[in-house]
Amino acid sequence: MGALDGKVIAITGAGRGIGRAVAEFCASEGAAVVVNDYGVSIDGNEPTSEVADEVVAAIIAAGGRAVANASSVTEMAGGESIVQSAIDNFGRIDGIVAVAGILRERMFFNMVESEWDPVIETHLKGTFTVFRAAAPHFKAQGSGAYVAFTSGAFAGSVAQANYAAAKGGIVSLARSVAAGMYKYGVRSNVIAPVAKSRMSGNVPFGIEMGEPEDVAPMVGFLLSDSSVGVTGQIYTANGGKIAVWNQPVEVREMRKDGRWTIAEIAARFDEVGQEELGLIKVLAEREAAAKLAKETGATPNQ
Ligand SMILES: NC(=O)c1ccc[n+]([C@@H]2O[C@H](COP(=O)([O-])OP(=O)(O)OC[C@H]3O[C@@H](n4cnc5c(N)ncnc54)[C@H](O)[C@@H]3O)[C@@H](O)[C@H]2O)c1
Repeated sequence: MGALDGKVIAITGAGRGIGRAVAEFCASEGAAVVVNDYGVSIDGNEPTSEVADEVVAAIIAAGGRAVANASSVTEMAGGESIVQSAIDNFGRIDGIVAVAGILRERMFFNMVESEWDPVIETHLKGTFTVFRAAAPHFKAQGSGAYVAFTSGAFAGSVAQANYAAAKGGIVSLARSVAAGMYKYGVRSNVIAPVAKSRMSGNVPFGIEMGEPEDVAPMVGFLLSDSSVGVTGQIYTANGGKIAVWNQPVEVREMRKDGRWTIAEIAARFDEVGQEELGLIKVLAEREAAAKLAKETGATPNQ
């Protein structure tokens, strides 16, 4: 007995890394899976269908059920073909996991259109295309589970403004899908993973990082009937850690009758003030340490 017996799950970006671990885990829990992967390099170039085929062969060799799909999630037709693969091969669709992603790292002030567009297209539009394609099926059957992939970088990033913007967009998309599909019994949640993979290869040392296989069980839970009623949430999955993120809400306000002037806002600004942005705090601390080190001739601690 598997927790996903009888379910059909499509996973994008399932040829490598976290997507592959999720596909293999879902199959081991009894799901029939569509293994989608466009088979591209880390920056999204040189597509090949081999990576998806290889994962399907591994799943079948282990006694599971799987079919490969090498479409790009950046096209509406790609999203539709992924869902159609599920219907044609297994007769239904119960879960969509949007993992596919690429990186084009650049400081914001140097970033060009050819670094911005493909990252937004792969992550944000690539989640929309496959989520949208499953929507009529989920709505008609009155059930279904969406799992999107964000990153801690959605809260802000120094050198990945394109990626952070896409990942923030994914959070808002997934919450909106949770709201828009709520009355049809469809849930939509987001994973913020941390795991060793080719994509995380450049992350500096010192960050606690689990394996792709550690991320898969939380995704499996969100796809399973054990998570009915769980929707609109973001969960970190990193090694043995699972954490829930807060929801954005207004935290303080100030009011007056009528329209404010700049001088009035300035005079009372402390009433609303600022909310600490963790990344800026870290940068400010580093800058202060570097300044001190320069003054004293010591080596700054990073
Ligand atoms: N690894 C981490 O620590 C980490 C941290 C935060 C977020 N994430 C997110 O988790 C997801 C998986 O990351 P990973 O580390 O396993 O990366 P990965 O590079 O190992 O795998 C991503 C896969 O997506 C596929 N892909 C890229 N463009 C595609 C397209 N247009 N259509 C279909 N497939 C496409 C690639 O071929 C690749 O196999 C990504 O969305 C990533 O942003 C990962």
